[in-house]
Amino acid sequence: MRTIDPAEHRPADIYKLMIGAIVPRPIAFVSTVDAAGVRNLAPFSYFTGCSTNPPVVCFCAAVRSGPFPHKDTLRNVVATGEFVVNIVSEDFGERMNACSLDAPPEVDEFALSGLTPLASDLVRPPRVAESRIQMECRLRQVVQVSDEPLGGSLVLGEVVRFHVQEDLLDGYKIDPDKLNAIGRMGGPTYVRTHDRFDMLRPVKPEEGARPLSRLNSASR
Ligand SMILES: Cc1cc2nc3c(=O)[nH]c(=O)nc-3n(C[C@H](O)[C@H](O)[C@H](O)COP(=O)(O)O)c2cc1C
Repeated sequence: MRTIDPAEHRPADIYKLMIGAIVPRPIAFVSTVDAAGVRNLAPFSYFTGCSTNPPVVCFCAAVRSGPFPHKDTLRNVVATGEFVVNIVSEDFGERMNACSLDAPPEVDEFALSGLTPLASDLVRPPRVAESRIQMECRLRQVVQVSDEPLGGSLVLGEVVRFHVQEDLLDGYKIDPDKLNAIGRMGGPTYVRTHDRFDMLRPVKPEEGARPLSRLNSASR
């Protein structure tokens, strides 16, 4: 094993370690608008869900070096308190990637990528019509983790509306083949979600055995 003290290495190298180690990462394709209504769309793979009740998702916007450290997405979310997370399927992966261009704030990535804006129900940012699952979110909290270059801000948003393409759903279960989501690895590498296997959770021990609940009562 190699032991690495992050304090002794450049942040750019630690970034490579982290995006290679934390894999695969789902992608939040985040639509926002600025205070004047200009649309913005950008992918973020430091993304996950962090609460179900209420439903809360979070993503992390990194700090750039140079005169404009904060990404348009973060500035828009802070200014308006709203965003939409669009789940990325393989068929529009390249158009998602086109939206990761470091474009000035006045650039509308919907126009740039050819993706289709679709009015949301409850928030101003439009959804991406090509996305099979869209989540309208209201900002709950921004955690400014670090203002250093390659630092970041964690954005937590409560999902106030889910939109799921009808044929994906069996009750509340989502068909992963029909969703065909992609995820991000390190560098320019992505994964598909075709190659899956099942693993059943262990059952609780019989009465009399040491109760698991003493270790962790949060059994899902
Ligand atoms: C698949 C993918 C995932 C990305 N994930 C992140 C991320 O988690 N955090 C981040 O700050 N930038 C991430 N980026 C880069 C941003 O998308 C890029 O900086 C974009 O220009 C930000 O746009 P904005 O300034 O309009 O918000 C990612 C790019 C791609 C292609």
